[in-house]
Amino acid sequence: MSNRLQGKRIIITGAVSNIGKEAAKSFVDEGAKVVIGDINEEAGQQTAREIGAHFIKVDVTQEESVSDFVDSAVEELGGLDVLVQNAGLQRLGKVTDFAASDWDAIFAVNSRAHFFGAKYAVPHLRKSGRGSIINTSSLAGKRGGPGTTAYSSSKGAVIAFSTALALELALDNIRVNAVCPGWVDTAFNEPAISFMGGRASQEEFVKRVVPLQRQGQSSEIAPLFVYLASDESSYLTAQAITIDGGIYN
Ligand SMILES: NC(=O)c1ccc[n+]([C@@H]2O[C@H](COP(=O)([O-])OP(=O)(O)OC[C@H]3O[C@@H](n4cnc5c(N)ncnc54)[C@H](O)[C@@H]3O)[C@@H](O)[C@H]2O)c1
Repeated sequence: MSNRLQGKRIIITGAVSNIGKEAAKSFVDEGAKVVIGDINEEAGQQTAREIGAHFIKVDVTQEESVSDFVDSAVEELGGLDVLVQNAGLQRLGKVTDFAASDWDAIFAVNSRAHFFGAKYAVPHLRKSGRGSIINTSSLAGKRGGPGTTAYSSSKGAVIAFSTALALELALDNIRVNAVCPGWVDTAFNEPAISFMGGRASQEEFVKRVVPLQRQGQSSEIAPLFVYLASDESSYLTAQAITIDGGIYN
């Protein structure tokens, strides 16, 4: 690694497994000081030990929890340069069968939490004189599919939120972008796989619709997070970047 993030102080939520864990590990490997936040305390402590980060428990659906988390993380890091919001929840179902409680749960984690994170992190990013906010959306936020009305809408909201926030914060030299992964091979997609009729059907679907004919790996998504966290992306803001093997074009 080449210390591309030397001196950067980074908070990342939803980082105890898969995409978030790979991103957090890459941040540490590139020289950043990293605090990871997640609702899963046991896995969080384990991940922090494993990758050389600090863990603080947070429930991103609760405003007070996010406020306390950001304060404690900034104290641990001695300031803040980058906020990564990666916690996510997936539930699928046909619109006629979908429960309002599931809709609300999805929006609380996937959409509203981004507002809480920005609300409490921006004052600290302002103090650093520059900043990068990276919000995890999804290909589904641009182009949904059967069963994904709730998930897709919640991720579409992340794109709209990120663009509006980017314009609001441009004069503060705080950049805001959304990362939109396509099919990444993690257990997160179990609800989608079961909705599609099992792993074989999902694999057949992926082969048919993904130009690169396979799912991505978390390690193939993490470099985009590193780029957006680093000063290499200093002229990049208000974008929703798809990383999906070529589906969205
Ligand atoms: N895997 C994919 O194919 C895919 C595709 C597009 C987008 N994404 C997005 O990428 C992100 C990471 O997905 P992943 O595949 O690595 O799944 P993952 O399940 O490993 O990561 C989700 C994380 O969010 C945490 N989380 C959930 N609710 C929380 C809460 N209330 N408070 C704090 N943390 C909470 C979980 O504990 C978990 O660590 C998600 O936002 C997901 O929507 C994933």
